[in-house]
Formats: sequence, C-alpha cells, structure tokens
Amino acid sequence: MKAAYVKQFGSEDAFIYGDLPDPQIGPKHVLVRVKAAGINRGDLFRREGTYPGAAPSFPFVPGWEVAGTIEAVGSEVKDRLVGQRVVATLAQGGYAELVAVHRAGTIPIPASLSFEEAASIPMVFLTSWFALVKVARIEAGETALIQSGGSGVGMAGIQIARHLGAKVITTAGTDEKTARALALGAEVAVNYERHDFLPEAMRCTNNAGVNVVLESVGGAVLTKSIAALAPLGRLVIVGNSSRSAEKPDLAALAAKNASFNQFSLGRQMGYGGVIPELEKILDLCARGKMKTVVDRVFPLPETAAAHRYLADRKNFGKVILRP
Ligand SMILES: NC(=O)c1ccc[n+]([C@@H]2O[C@H](COP(=O)([O-])OP(=O)(O)OC[C@H]3O[C@@H](n4cnc5c(N)ncnc54)[C@H](OP(=O)(O)O)[C@@H]3O)[C@@H](O)[C@H]2O)c1
Repeated sequence: MKAAYVKQFGSEDAFIYGDLPDPQIGPKHVLVRVKAAGINRGDLFRREGTYPGAAPSFPFVPGWEVAGTIEAVGSEVKDRLVGQRVVATLAQGGYAELVAVHRAGTIPIPASLSFEEAASIPMVFLTSWFALVKVARIEAGETALIQSGGSGVGMAGIQIARHLGAKVITTAGTDEKTARALALGAEVAVNYERHDFLPEAMRCTNNAGVNVVLESVGGAVLTKSIAALAPLGRLVIVGNSSRSAEKPDLAALAAKNASFNQFSLGRQMGYGGVIPELEKILDLCARGKMKTVVDRVFPLPETAAAHRYLADRKNFGKVILRP
C-alpha cells in the first residue's frame, strides 16, 4: 500500500510517500480502505518528535482518524460487513491507503456525511465534547469563551457550546477566521492578534465574566482566559498550541473560586466510553444539529504541504488527506 510516513523525526520535508507492507488483520480487526484521513496538530508534534509519551517506531505513519470502506473482516467480527462505510479512531497509521483497526474502534458513517466530513469529526469533536460536556458541564444560558475558534478543536467547540444553548465568545488570528466563526454561530469573535479579547469578554457578560473557557493556546492567552472567568467559572485546558512554558496561575483561579482541568482524549480512550460519545456526535452532525468544517483536502502524496498549511495557521477547521 501507499502511505505517507517518516523514517526519522523532522520537518515536513521528512515525509516520504511510498510503499509499505499492507497491514494484517487479527480476528477482532477490520481492514479499512481509507478514503479520508484527518490531520491534527498533534500529528505535527509527533512528526517532529516533541509529542509527550513513548516515541513511535519507524517507519512511522501518523494519523489518528480515518473514514473509508471495509475491505476485509477478522474471523470473530460478526457485525461489520465488507463494503460498509465506517469512521475509525486508531493509535497511528491513518495516512495510508489501508489500516487495520479493532472493530470496537469503528462506527458506521451516517448516510448524510461524506468520507471527508466523517474523518474530520473524531479527534476535535470528542476533545471539545468531553471538555465542555463532561468536564465543564456547560449549561444552557451560560457563556463560553472558546479560544482559537479557527482550530479544529475551536470549530467543534463553537458548535457544541451553541448546540447546548450557551452563548459563545471566540478568538482567532485573522479577520477571515473571525468572520467564519461568526457564521458558525459565535456571538462575538475577536481577532486576538489585533484586539484584546479580555475587555470584549467582560463587555459581553456585563462584567460578570465567562462561565467556561475552552483553552488550547496557552501563554498570554491562558493568563487572560483566567482573568476572563466569572466566579465559580470552569477552565478546561486541552492544548498549548503556542508551546508556552507558562503554567496556569492557581492563585488567580482560587481568587475566583474557579476550577481548572486538563483534558486528554488519549487518556480518556484508555478509560473507555469514548466511542458511544462519538456515535452521539456523528448523529448530531448527520442531523444537521452541529456542523463540521472541512477547510481543505490534500492528496496523500502532498502530506508535507498539508502539514505546512496547518503549521502556518492557515486552516479554519479541519484539513483532510485523500489517498
Ligand atoms: N487534549 C486533547 O486530547 C487534544 C486533542 C486534540 C487537539 N488538542 C490540542 O488542541 C489544540 C488545537 O488542535 P487542532 O488540531 O484543532 O489545531 P489546529 O487546527 O492546527 O489549530 C491550531 C491553531 O492554534 C492557533 N494558535 C494560536 N497561537 C498559536 C501559536 N503560537 N502557534 C501555533 N498556533 C497558534 C492558530 O490559529 P489562530 O491563530 O487563528 O488562533 C492555529 O491555527 C492543539 O494544541 C492540540 O495539541 C488536544
């Protein structure tokens, strides 16, 4: 099969598009012919060798999420059919023509979703869903500050908070992205490269502050996010795109009786209960209650260009690879 892989950590130029052996399936696995693979910012960190946790073995094929058709099923798999359209989450290997996935990691794709849309959903929607619904327990009528509304996680967070009846204030790095965030349902979108979002967040909440912050940027944005919280507010950190070494100021949080959590989807996958939530999310997207945004699709041989596009912060929503 063809795949986009690296033989050592490095820049985008480390990507090789070439042949690797077809994956073999075990009795509980299905073989998926990949039609679309999602890119996540964590893939960039993994490619560089800066992602936390155990280093992968080489050749390393990134890719945590794919959508495609089932090509073969293992001897113990009774409820998946050859030819069926499925979306799947996996530990790695998505940037390829074929992947072997445990049957439990696959979900049939609702008819109204394309392969590209399906592949764009798992990582970012699950992350924002767990952060907002399970950790922050956001309620209708509350106000959420969704940082970096143009990131995949932010795009999903805007949708989820709106779906749950919350008012959304968001930020992004360009005017084009803030316009797209407003079109997606955010009430206020601030270009944080040019304007201070803190006074805007206070103005929008009549100086009460926001109830929930979904934070993925870090650094000065994190510090101001804490300042934007209302008393008893909830801050959920899911990322640190700026790679700042700054830690959340616990005294500033305590001064507001605010709570602080860090959510990791990878850890949650180890604890279980993720796939049923993904089924709910896919259903909401399929029924038009929430909307995923596929910003751009790159052919798999152009994986290096796709990673560069993300690194240059050009995307609004998700970038997809098509084998
Ligand atoms: N906890 C988890 O399990 C989990 C799961 C998925 C992702 N994440 C994390 O969530 C964050 C978003 O992931 P994603 O895949 O949605 O990312 P993405 O689509 O690549 O978006 C990242 C965005 O962050 C913004 N940003 C702000 N300051 C930045 C800086 N100094 N350098 C680079 N980007 C900066 C940029 O948009 P603007 O400039 O327009 O804001 C950029 O486009 C990442 O930190 C990722 O590691 C965590």
